[in-house]
Amino acid sequence: MKKILLILLSTIFAAGIASYNIVNAAQTKTGGLMDKKILVAYFSWSGNTKSIAQKIQAQTGGDIFEITPVTPYPSDYNETAYGIAKEQKEKGIHPPIHNKDVSSYDIIFVGTPAWWYTMAPPVMTFLAENNFEGKTIVPFVTHGGGGGYTIDKDMEKLAKGAKVLSPFVVYGKGGAGVDKDITEWLNRI
Ligand SMILES: Cc1cc2nc3c(=O)[nH]c(=O)nc-3n(C[C@H](O)[C@H](O)[C@H](O)COP(=O)(O)O)c2cc1C
Repeated sequence: MKKILLILLSTIFAAGIASYNIVNAAQTKTGGLMDKKILVAYFSWSGNTKSIAQKIQAQTGGDIFEITPVTPYPSDYNETAYGIAKEQKEKGIHPPIHNKDVSSYDIIFVGTPAWWYTMAPPVMTFLAENNFEGKTIVPFVTHGGGGGYTIDKDMEKLAKGAKVLSPFVVYGKGGAGVDKDITEWLNRI
């Protein structure tokens, strides 16, 4: 009897949490994002930014797009970090990417790992090669301890004519409270 009661109570609790999340997501969508066409574009080398991008997509109901360089980065950390990524950073190289037409979107979430104190070079290409005139960019950054640097300002310089909002900045892929943190940030937009 005790066991049945326990199962019943935990089911009610789980259903409560689920409906809270749904209501919350709906509130997000009916806030500043209502009736807007949303794209969540991101680059991710080791999966952290991808994880955050998927959470933002789930909460906003937007489309999702992974920015990928035509020439993929090596899977070896040192080769990427101290080789090609460092060289691209130092020389200001915007590597060719598989691009996406953003013309039909109003709000574009742009996600990047912090790479050498700024956004990753494929994200620079994405911002420089698309027309963001009159659009809103919402940055999100994952990092390894250095924070968000001035990545939002760096984005502003590349995405001509865009309004760039305050970024969501998180260490790695975030902790247990990351979904709630994203919800609160989205509600502030
Ligand atoms: C090439 C490279 C450069 C990096 N530079 C920085 C940095 O300047 N500051 C920092 O805090 N983390 C740095 N990191 C760590 C990443 O920002 C961090 O692990 C991030 O969450 C990785 O995201 P991802 O899994 O989506 O690729 C760097 C990682 C790589 C591979």
